[in-house]
Amino acid sequence: MYAYDLLVVGSANADLVVEVERRPAAGETVLGGDLATHPGGKGANQAVAAARLGARTALLARVGDDAHGGLLLDSQRSAGVDTAGVLVGGAPTGVALITVDPSGDNSIVVSPGANGRLTPADVRAATGLLGASRVVSAQLEIPLETVVEVVRNLTPGSRFVLNPSPPAPLPPEVLAACDPLIVNEHEAKVILGGADGDVSGEPADWARLLLAKGPRSVVVTLGADGALVADGRGVTAVPSVRVAAVDTTGAGDAFTAALAVRLGAGASLPEAAAYAARVGAAAVTRRGAQDSYPTAEEVEAL
Ligand code: RIB
Repeated sequence: MYAYDLLVVGSANADLVVEVERRPAAGETVLGGDLATHPGGKGANQAVAAARLGARTALLARVGDDAHGGLLLDSQRSAGVDTAGVLVGGAPTGVALITVDPSGDNSIVVSPGANGRLTPADVRAATGLLGASRVVSAQLEIPLETVVEVVRNLTPGSRFVLNPSPPAPLPPEVLAACDPLIVNEHEAKVILGGADGDVSGEPADWARLLLAKGPRSVVVTLGADGALVADGRGVTAVPSVRVAAVDTTGAGDAFTAALAVRLGAGASLPEAAAYAARVGAAAVTRRGAQDSYPTAEEVEAL
């Protein structure tokens, strides 16, 4: 019996968001709307999304001893996330500078701050949390060596889910642990093609190529077009739900969290991805990341 349905090991950022008519080109200045500050970070977002769906969730992360760290801890606790694994201090809380355009698309620059100080030693000190969790998820806004240490400390029977975002080449031992590796089109190209991301073919081809790199399963998210799931049985398309997008920030994190939770509950990969696509669709209909995440009841009503 596991104490947690999901342990998220990852980043926590204060999201500083400005709405713009269009993004500035190099050397250009544009005026935007009023600044909004939201709790964010791909790890913290996943934890809140999972807890809001009713999963018993814990977060292993690092924030600064500052107001942004307080904002993030408050958000986790009010969603019901166990924050015993959230370390405080060592650097300022991570910050994400985000612009959102009228179509709801975003551009993000992250200053990792304390996220960059979440070390392999912090993971080794948290093996109790790892052993108590049915599913463990991670992303790449923390050091890659910390993610490697997570993989090395997984307990037999637990499941590892990785969204390599922002994307970087992954060592074979990390790839081999992923079940699934979850990527969008941009991340797929970087993982397959290296820094230039120059990969030809269709998303179904990318899914097969990614699978050949060693993960037990792969999910390629396609935004409004749903997702592709791939494992030893082949590639399956999973539809999405059509909604009017207001802000896509954090929708991928909600997708990953929902997928992890449903897999932990025993759903098949296509079933879990179909549910996750509904959660991601709900998340784009509201502003912000964590503020936009639905409850299980809201997903049913979608
Ligand atoms: O995936 C969305 C997240 O990316 C934002 O909340 C921001 O903090 C960046 O980490």
